[in-house]
Amino acid sequence: MEVLPSIIACDFTKLREEIKSIEECNLKYIHLDVMDGHFVDNLTFGMPIVCAIRSMTALILDTHLMIKNPSKYLLKFYECSNIVDVHIELGKEAFECIKISRENGYSIGIVINPETDPKYALPFLEDIEQVIVMTVNPGFAGQEMIEEVLWKLDFLNEIRIKNSLSFKITVDGGVNFKNLEKLKKMNVDRVVMGKAFFSLSYEERKRYF
Ligand code: DX5
Ligand code: ZN
Repeated sequence: MEVLPSIIACDFTKLREEIKSIEECNLKYIHLDVMDGHFVDNLTFGMPIVCAIRSMTALILDTHLMIKNPSKYLLKFYECSNIVDVHIELGKEAFECIKISRENGYSIGIVINPETDPKYALPFLEDIEQVIVMTVNPGFAGQEMIEEVLWKLDFLNEIRIKNSLSFKITVDGGVNFKNLEKLKKMNVDRVVMGKAFFSLSYEERKRYF
């Protein structure tokens, strides 16, 4: 199972060291939570920071867009990200992003909020990089995992097997060292880890990963 540190929870005064520490743990990805204060009730960062991080590392950048009109900015985010994830709750906007990314041969992920039925993702599961199952309401790092939504993991895995699909299943929100084992057993391919990763010292990170 791959662990994707979510940069939202890092010490931004030490951004370069934080990125280096992810590399030193031999992890492959950085997860970047872009929030616009409209789709979610928080503001984080946009293209300048994602592009700055791109210039600092060759790690795979997974950019999770929590913004109202992602199609408008999608190609710009692909200039500095390897994967871009959009919320299925946005309906037409999400469909448009999936279309644009397919036409351009880019990797796209679909994100499902805790209250959203995963059946809405079903028409799009072919040729996507990943489905991100949100296990917190998006907006903030450091929340408790909502375990009631974990049934979606079995649901998606069954569909994946039945239809010989290759999308990855990713869990985002409240992942820590206590629930990690459980997620491993549930055929999760990737987990996003914000607070639990960045609250470790650099030495502890190296020991755990
Ligand atoms: C929530 C974000 C997550 C979150 C992860 O809106 O999508 O990526 O910040 O942080 P933790 O692991 O602390 O819940
Ligand atoms: Zn995220």
